[in-house]
Amino acid sequence: MNYIEEDQKYIWHPAQQMKDAEVFPPVFIDYANGPFLYDENGKEYIDIISSWWCNLLGHCHPEINEALKKQVDALEHVIFANFTHKPAIELCQELATLVPKGLTKFNFCDNGSSSVECALKMSFQYQHQKGETQRHLFMCLSESYHGETIGALSVGSMDLYAQLFKPMMMENIHFDGLDCYRCSYGKIRDTCDCECFESAEKAFETYGHETVAVIVEPILQGAAGMRIYPPEYLRRLRALADQYGVLLIDDEIAAGFGRTGTMFAIEHAGVCPDILCTSKGLTGGYLPMAIVCTTEEIYNAFYDDYGTHKAFVHSHTYAGNPLAASVATAVIKILKRDKILEQAQHTADYLTEKLNEALGHHTHVGEIRHIGLVHAIELVKDKQTKDAFPAEQRIGWHIFRKAMDRGLVLRPIGDVIYFNPPLNIDKDTLDKAIVLCKAAVEDVLGG
Ligand SMILES: Cc1ncc(COP(=O)(O)O)c(C=O)c1O
Repeated sequence: MNYIEEDQKYIWHPAQQMKDAEVFPPVFIDYANGPFLYDENGKEYIDIISSWWCNLLGHCHPEINEALKKQVDALEHVIFANFTHKPAIELCQELATLVPKGLTKFNFCDNGSSSVECALKMSFQYQHQKGETQRHLFMCLSESYHGETIGALSVGSMDLYAQLFKPMMMENIHFDGLDCYRCSYGKIRDTCDCECFESAEKAFETYGHETVAVIVEPILQGAAGMRIYPPEYLRRLRALADQYGVLLIDDEIAAGFGRTGTMFAIEHAGVCPDILCTSKGLTGGYLPMAIVCTTEEIYNAFYDDYGTHKAFVHSHTYAGNPLAASVATAVIKILKRDKILEQAQHTADYLTEKLNEALGHHTHVGEIRHIGLVHAIELVKDKQTKDAFPAEQRIGWHIFRKAMDRGLVLRPIGDVIYFNPPLNIDKDTLDKAIVLCKAAVEDVLGG
């Protein structure tokens, strides 16, 4: 069977122009192992982007596979309203040891966007049940991304995803800042005083009393191009939110589970959010699951007699799925037992050094920024002015194609190419990936 022909007959793939498949058909992946994917001819590709940032410990990890196989013979799924099971309970016991202190209650969803929807509704209902009925707005940061359902788009700021749908979206407050590479105050990420925070202060002055919650991607704005910003910004946001009675929603869907070097990225700032959303790495990239973690205070605002109608009436069919929960527990146990985060930090230091040696001096590499194992290379037309390439040149996309020819999955975000590998990737594989990445960049932009 010609699988590609059959694919094109039936399948509408996510987040791509399907016409591109005429020149760059989908790559048929047959099997996978660790950081490697293999096509039907056995050609190997290094999955340096962890398959959309979710594959945490490599593909087809034997222990995770085993946990899944064991669970599937016991209980594959059960309604989670009025029912419970061991995989979910065990997962919460483990998760409680990892999340910032203060987060003790866990509400299950089945993907990142749905957990953001859940967090928005939970915070809105909480404020109302506390009598704060004037609060109807949400705040978010420029170039933020929280998923692609309508509610999640409404608290995102990326026109690429949201522009067309604005008539369908909620009015929210977006404030500026966080493009540390092109800082409009002329400051440098590591030494600035978060001058851009004044935009948040102005927004709170005007809208703080009408605002339910502010939502933020902590430290790392992934979809914006792996933008990295100082923890001080989060400390100030926590303090400002407290001052105005606004809840802080911490979207750790991309940044959580060790991606930035700490278990959750907000730990860099040493503050606790009111609500934390986690997904992606939670199940090691195996199965769709998300969890909204929150405080006793929020939970208690919903806890009352049936007739008060204070219950949180929000559900997803696959909430708490036992297969996903057993896999997530296996992931956490491996993270703890093998001290994966410590290992990953050594690997990250190595990657920083080697990537800078390989590409730091390239004429079109504007910045190599990194946090944890996440390393992003921003490609620019002019290094001095930081001017971007014209979008229609699709530089990142051409590099992606060249890298695929060479055996590296380097799917870009515009002209930002990045490494966001499994946390247990070894140095030899990274060395290989760096060589392939450099070659693909040079294929398109010269030496
Ligand atoms: C920060 C952040 N929030 C939310 C989402 C949405 O998650 P999902 O794609 O599972 O709906 C993503 C996905 O990349 C994300 O990076």
